[in-house]
Amino acid sequence: MELDGTLKQAVVGWDLSRVVFRDLERDYPVVERGEGIYLYDTKGRRYIDGSGGSSVVTSIGHGNRRVAAVMAQQAETIAFSPAHCFANQPHVELCQKIGEISPPEMKQTFLLSGGSEATENAVKFARQYEYVRNNRGKFTVIGRWQGFHGNTFGAMTASGITYRRQIYGPMLGHAVKIPPCFCYRCEWGLTYGQCNLECARALRRAIRQEGPENVLAFIAEPVVGAALGAVPAVPEYFPLIREICDEQDVVFIADEVMTGFGRTGAKFGVDHWSVIPDIIATAKGISGGYTPLAAVILRDKIMDLLRSKHSNFRGGHTYCANPLSARVGIEVLAIIREQNLIENVRRMGSRLLAGLQGLLAHPTVGDVRGKGLMAGMEFVRNKQTKEPFPPEYQFGKRLFEEAFARGLVIFPGTGTVDGVAGNHILMAPPFIITASQVDDMVAILDEAIGVVEKGLPAEMRS
Ligand SMILES: Cc1ncc(COP(=O)(O)O)c(C=O)c1O
Repeated sequence: MELDGTLKQAVVGWDLSRVVFRDLERDYPVVERGEGIYLYDTKGRRYIDGSGGSSVVTSIGHGNRRVAAVMAQQAETIAFSPAHCFANQPHVELCQKIGEISPPEMKQTFLLSGGSEATENAVKFARQYEYVRNNRGKFTVIGRWQGFHGNTFGAMTASGITYRRQIYGPMLGHAVKIPPCFCYRCEWGLTYGQCNLECARALRRAIRQEGPENVLAFIAEPVVGAALGAVPAVPEYFPLIREICDEQDVVFIADEVMTGFGRTGAKFGVDHWSVIPDIIATAKGISGGYTPLAAVILRDKIMDLLRSKHSNFRGGHTYCANPLSARVGIEVLAIIREQNLIENVRRMGSRLLAGLQGLLAHPTVGDVRGKGLMAGMEFVRNKQTKEPFPPEYQFGKRLFEEAFARGLVIFPGTGTVDGVAGNHILMAPPFIITASQVDDMVAILDEAIGVVEKGLPAEMRS
C-alpha cells in the first residue's frame, strides 16, 4: 500500500489515518500504559498525568491492580444487566456508599455513565420535581458564562463556553447566563471585600427578570474547571446562592463532575461552602477513569415527592446502573477512603498551589488559583492591564506542546476573558501524587513557560 502524506503509520508505527481525532492537525503519540501518576507511550516516553487523564478524571492513579482484579471478577460474574427489570448488587451497594459521603439530606442516587448525562439528567429530575409540584411553567435554566456542563445539546444549553456553543446557535435550547464569580476579572470591576457580591446577586436579578414562575434551576460548578482554569467561588458566594434559590423557589444544581469525590480536598466541592444543593451531578473521579461512570445525587425531598406521586423518572440510558462500572466505583471510593487520599489532596494541593505561585515571577503568568488538586494559571500579555494574548497566537496550545514535549500533560483552555480571548491551563494530578512529583510538575512547567516566553514575537512582549 502506498502511504500518503497524512498516514501516521510511518511516524508512530500505528495506522491512525482512519481515526477521527478532535485536533485534526496534531500527531498523537499512542499511549501504551499507565502506572501511578505516569503515562507511557509506545516509544517508551514517560509523561506525568498532570491533568488527571483528559480532564480531571484520574483520582487513584493509573494501573491499579486492585481495581483491575475486581473488574475482571465482575465481568465474569455479570458485566451488563438489563436495568428495566433487574437491580444488581454493585449498583445498590454503590448508591449506599455514595449516600454515606454525600451531604446531609442528599441520600438518593441515580447512576449514569458520563458527566453530560449527569448534568442533563439533573435538569430533568428538577423539571419532573417541579412538574409534579404543579409548577408547570418552570422551564428556564440559569447557568453562568464560562461555565461548562457538557457537550450534548441539553448540557451545552446550560453552558457558557463560547467556542463550543458558537456553531450550534439556535439548535441549543433557551437558557439564561449570569457572570461567574471570578475576582481576577470581576465583571463589575470591583474588589473582593468591597463588592457586595454582585456576582451572586446577579442570580436574583436574572430570576426576577425571567419571572420566578418560569425559572426551573440554577446550575454552577463550585470550582470552575475547563472554561476558567480552577476558579473557586469566594466563601460567601454559595451560601448567598442557596438563599436566593430558596427565596425564589429555584432548584440549585451543583455540577460536581470535576469537583466530586475528593478532588478539591473535601468529599464534594460544595462542602467547602457548607451548602447543601438540591441536586449534585457528578462523574469522572468516582471511577477514576477505569470505566465510564456518573451519578445524579438528589435531595431526599425530591425523591420523597416523586415516590409519593408514583412519578417514575422519564429518563435513563442504556448504561444506567451498569454493574461493571458500579463495582469499579465501589473499589475506587474504598481506595480513596482507606488510603486517606483526600488528606493527601489537601497537602499536595497546597504544595502545588505554592509552587505555581512561585511561577508568578514569569512575565506572562497573570494569575494562579485553585482548590485541592485542581489548580489553574492564567496567562496575559500585560500583567498591569491583564490584556490577553490574541486568540490566534494560541498561547495555551503552544504551552501545552512545550510541557508535553518535556513529559507533562496539562489541559489548556481558551476564552477565559470573554469566551473568545484569554488563555489558561488546568492541572489536576492523581490524588496519590507525592511531594517530589508535585515539584517535578512545577519545574517542567517553569521551563515550558520560559521557552514559550522566549519565542514570543517582540510586539507581544510587555
Ligand atoms: C463541570 C463539568 N460538567 C460536565 C462535564 C461533561 O462531562 P463528560 O465529558 O463526561 O460528558 C464536564 C467535562 O469536562 C465538566 O468539566
